[in-house]
Amino acid sequence: MAEQGLFSAELLSPEVQAALPAGYQLRALRQSDYETGFLDCLRVLTTVGDITKEQFEEQYSYMARQEGGYFILVVEDTNTSPPRVVGTGALVVERKFIHTLGSVGHIEDIAVAKDQQGKKLGLRIIQALDFIASKTGCYKTILDCSEANEGFYVKCGFRRAGLEMAHYH
Ligand code: ACO
Repeated sequence: MAEQGLFSAELLSPEVQAALPAGYQLRALRQSDYETGFLDCLRVLTTVGDITKEQFEEQYSYMARQEGGYFILVVEDTNTSPPRVVGTGALVVERKFIHTLGSVGHIEDIAVAKDQQGKKLGLRIIQALDFIASKTGCYKTILDCSEANEGFYVKCGFRRAGLEMAHYH
């Protein structure tokens, strides 16, 4: 039996799965993804640092306990042996008091392996996260990105709204 993931497989869009290239699989992040290419994908985005397997599993367990809060998905290429994670994206669902106890989806950490970019995997990951946001009742989905990625998100159906501000600690 396949290992259980961070969230229910019912939240995986069948349309997105059907649109992926042959042998590519959409699935929830698993605790065993420490060595499957997931962290290397994230390294395309930014610094990941040296994380031990134990630290990875601890962080995963924390996220799994925040029921309905963290939805991290991966796209796995099963044509290779062993299969390799080639793309990932996260949706963090924030519950609010405003808008009659509304929820907002935050799209975070979208990354596609360098040698896999340009195959619409990024688009599919966003579509899959949008599907989860809609299924979990989010009234909107927002994200921050660089100017260089604006065109990508416009193609994914997003539009510029507001201004990002940051205070680093
Ligand atoms: N600017 C403008 N258009 C773009 C860009 C870009 N930077 N990147 C892709 N596109 C276009 C593609 O040409 C394609 O257009 P088409 O439908 O007309 O053919 C469309 O957007 C979909 O592109 P995909 O093939 O799905 O893009 P890809 O799989 O390469 O993923 C991504 C795009 C995620 C930005 C990838 O290049 C990547 O991992 N980059 C490095 C990490 C990164 O910057 N991640 C985003 C950080 S922001 C955040 O996480 C919220």
